[in-house]
Amino acid sequence: MYKKLEYKEAGKFEETRFEKIHNVVFDNSNIASIAVAQEIADLIRTKQAEYKKCVLGLATGSSPIKVYEELVRMHQEEELSFKNVVTFNLDEYYPMTKENTQSYWYFMHEHLFNHVDILPENINVPSGEVKADEVHQFCIDYELKIKEAGGLDFQLLGIGRTGHIGFNEPGSHYNSGTRNITLDHITRIDAATAFLGIEHVPRVAITMGIGTIRKAKRIVLLAWGVNKAEVLQETIEGEITADVPATYLQRHENVTFVLDEGASNDLTRVKTPWLVKNCIWTDDLMAKAVVWLSSKLNKSILKLTDKDYNYHGMSSLLVEQGSAYQMNINMFNKLQHTITGWPGGKPNADDTNRPERNTPAKKRVIIFSPHPDDDVISMGGTFDRLVEQGHEVHVAYQTSGNIAVSDEEALKFAEVSLALNGEESSAAQIIKDLGAKKEYDLDSSTVRNLKGLIRRKESVAATRYVGIPDEQVHFLDLPFYETGRVKKDKLSDKDVKIMCDIIGEIKPHQIYAAGDLADPHGTHKVCLDSLFLALEKLKSKSYMDDCWVWLYRGAWHEWDIHDVEMAVPMSPDQVLKKKQAIFYHQSQKDGVMFQGDDSREFWMRAEDRNKETAKKYNSLGMADYAAFEAFKRYHF
Ligand code: F6R
Repeated sequence: MYKKLEYKEAGKFEETRFEKIHNVVFDNSNIASIAVAQEIADLIRTKQAEYKKCVLGLATGSSPIKVYEELVRMHQEEELSFKNVVTFNLDEYYPMTKENTQSYWYFMHEHLFNHVDILPENINVPSGEVKADEVHQFCIDYELKIKEAGGLDFQLLGIGRTGHIGFNEPGSHYNSGTRNITLDHITRIDAATAFLGIEHVPRVAITMGIGTIRKAKRIVLLAWGVNKAEVLQETIEGEITADVPATYLQRHENVTFVLDEGASNDLTRVKTPWLVKNCIWTDDLMAKAVVWLSSKLNKSILKLTDKDYNYHGMSSLLVEQGSAYQMNINMFNKLQHTITGWPGGKPNADDTNRPERNTPAKKRVIIFSPHPDDDVISMGGTFDRLVEQGHEVHVAYQTSGNIAVSDEEALKFAEVSLALNGEESSAAQIIKDLGAKKEYDLDSSTVRNLKGLIRRKESVAATRYVGIPDEQVHFLDLPFYETGRVKKDKLSDKDVKIMCDIIGEIKPHQIYAAGDLADPHGTHKVCLDSLFLALEKLKSKSYMDDCWVWLYRGAWHEWDIHDVEMAVPMSPDQVLKKKQAIFYHQSQKDGVMFQGDDSREFWMRAEDRNKETAKKYNSLGMADYAAFEAFKRYHF
């Protein structure tokens, strides 16, 4: 039934009784995108050899960007021609002008059309510019045009967290055609970052229908990252339902979902493989299975019985380990040993079963914080302990975070400055620039500078409160971030050099960094990459032999308990102190610009998350703490 894919071998594919859609999981989205681009290029070339047109249905959004990049590369370096290609894009916001940088018209030209030899008359994107009373006819004509072109040979899709494909939001009908549609609230939240606030996101779009998409001869859907894991599990394993329109693809004969590891996280065969097949029981898998069993049965680890293991797909584990009794004790101890009130190591104590070394007693530490506030949001309690326990703690803010300061906040500071310094000061220019700024205009460099300064001063206030001297606070202002727009530049040697320099200067025994990949605008991921590249460059230096790297998670997610290698408990007082430190970041309070899909303020999220981790530890049978911050070690 499935098309034989060349990249079936490259990725990992195992069909299970739970899965109703063919899917391939790749180690990362880059190699996956290259494989998909290769399939598209092969199709274009095959059609060319037959003197036929190749009709492609195309998607926008973050998922297909690398596919387009690779197609452009193939055009430039491998003579892939688009002369025989006709494209139909899935959707467009309505109303929306082509020139608007948020339009899908603009996106497609920026990422693909401007860089290949496609004929302009072969490009079709639903128009966000037609008059309201002409939309209906426009949609009928769009359908007709696809039909006249011979139908879609290949349709590229992404998937929204609502389960939409195109903009077919929940409720969309199986046979729906091209039409206008009201966007789901979650879809608008997800688009809010690109539009600098949900209030700017259009409420309506024009989209190809499910019926239109279904008629494509071949469909490939791309999904990256843990944020998509839940909806993918529902789509691949759930019942067909209008509540998750992507489930309609279960009925298509020639569809493949191409996923990275994060997106595949919730599939049964990944999440609980012991329910699907015989497993090779590594230590990690065993930890995952026992934690899962304990929370599923609502029993602490030490209460799990042989029968519990046998009834939940773990009989082979039980045979391997001998008895539930011994296994439970091993797992209990393993978890117990992750807990420490001494994140920098406990001097003069036996450290055999502690997460950190006891020497040197006084460590040099760098906390890398992608934005100027992740340090206290994600590890404020641990930060506080490290300082209190006498370590030399440095904080390095990787980006300026200037884009996340609202114009209103900047104006407030500019007006204070004007009152103090008079009309001749730069404050007057800033106020003028802000006044002249139109929607979607970029900030002038003076305004950006002020916004960056606001975040710097907030950070210094917070780090002073935690108790480190100003000289130990470093602002790296990595250049990749400084575009003034949501879309950032690629990481360059300059960024990596800055990272290498600070590590080389401090020669840390410990590095803490954000291992959080679910940040809605991707900056955390780039910052982490910059660290990994720097570590790669520095690993032969002798001082790096003594350097351990601990990853924390940012504001959006926490490590799964079985992944945690160091859990630092916080007392109720420390929880309060951490909250206070977060409060210093006032520009990020009260309706921040990059809220993500969680309407709670950062301090609330941090507090709930840390309490939740403590609750989980407690329900597994560990002591009852108020809150925990969790870390996983990265070995380089
Ligand atoms: C875009 C489209 C949407 C996106 C989906 C995922 O043309 O039709 O269905 O594919 O919203 O968006 P990203 O890839 O940005 O997560």
